[in-house]
Amino acid sequence: MKQQLEQIKATALAALDAAANPVALEELRVKLLGKKGELTAVLKQMGKLSAEERPVMGQLANAVRADIEKKLEERKTALDAAALEAKLASESIDVTIPGEEIVMGHQHPMNMVLQEIKDIFVGMGYQVVDGPEVELASYNFTRLNIEEGHPSRDRSDTFYFNDEDSVLLRTQTSPMQIRAMEISEPPICILAPGRVFRKDEADATHSPMFHQIEGLVVAENITMGDLKGALITLMKRIYGQDLQMRFRPHHFPFTEPSCEMDMQCHKCHGTGEVDGQVCSTCHGEGWIELLGAGMVHPEVLSNCGIDPEKYSGFAFGMGLERMAMGRLRINDLRLIFDNDVRFLNQF
Ligand code: DAH
Repeated sequence: MKQQLEQIKATALAALDAAANPVALEELRVKLLGKKGELTAVLKQMGKLSAEERPVMGQLANAVRADIEKKLEERKTALDAAALEAKLASESIDVTIPGEEIVMGHQHPMNMVLQEIKDIFVGMGYQVVDGPEVELASYNFTRLNIEEGHPSRDRSDTFYFNDEDSVLLRTQTSPMQIRAMEISEPPICILAPGRVFRKDEADATHSPMFHQIEGLVVAENITMGDLKGALITLMKRIYGQDLQMRFRPHHFPFTEPSCEMDMQCHKCHGTGEVDGQVCSTCHGEGWIELLGAGMVHPEVLSNCGIDPEKYSGFAFGMGLERMAMGRLRINDLRLIFDNDVRFLNQF
């Protein structure tokens, strides 16, 4: 039996030395030390030994087992270390390779101008509000004093959603006046920028979708002087302190009196001519129309439950793209919507 144990030990240690990976090592462990292993088989024969021999062989068997276990442990440590080494070598990275350049974008030029305009009005105490693009005809037209049959209600101009023409894509931000007056009491002082939609073919100055900025102030003793003060302040801040402006009488159903505001053409400085040619920016007018405005019509105040005897107000609506084109000297509206990075990178 002693020989048998010596033999087992010798082959076991040799096999362990030869084991090439952790899986092979585990298989060996089961084969050598497991219940069906060789060592166990020898130990099962201990009963046949004499009383003197038994402790001697028992001790020897335990020593063999301990040696095998020790060897197993050593091989496992060595193989694990080798595996880690190989993994690290295969996953090594070269930290000196230059990184990929990250290209930073920036705000769209139209939003830059919108932000400037918002900042100016917020500084004057206006609250910036948002409203639905899908609007009811009663808000977009009726309660703004725009009667049935008015040309702006025509199906050739407006995107309707139903046969009764009662739901539409808003054609102007003016319905936000109604929404503001409906939910709050004077004093009201709001700015409502947003998208509007009209059935226009796209060209250098038209687009079926564009942006407007609506303003509304309602309180006691509001006059046309307040309207002019707010709008002149805005335009001077945007276009410079030397800007020449004018207010012209006009008509809008929801304001009375109504006006349009123009600025002097920055290209021809009001002469209407550049190098003997008709100025292409203002088409010879000398002036560029900026917005529509006026004193809120008493009918519109009443439509929103506000007493026109006690309160008065002014409103204005301007095209954001037109403001941005003037501010940034952009000559074609389509450039604003194309989003060609070669264009956008210029701002
Ligand atoms: N909603 C008008 C339009 O789209 C612009 C406008 C004119 C708005 C006069 C106003 C206003 O608030 O008072 O042409």
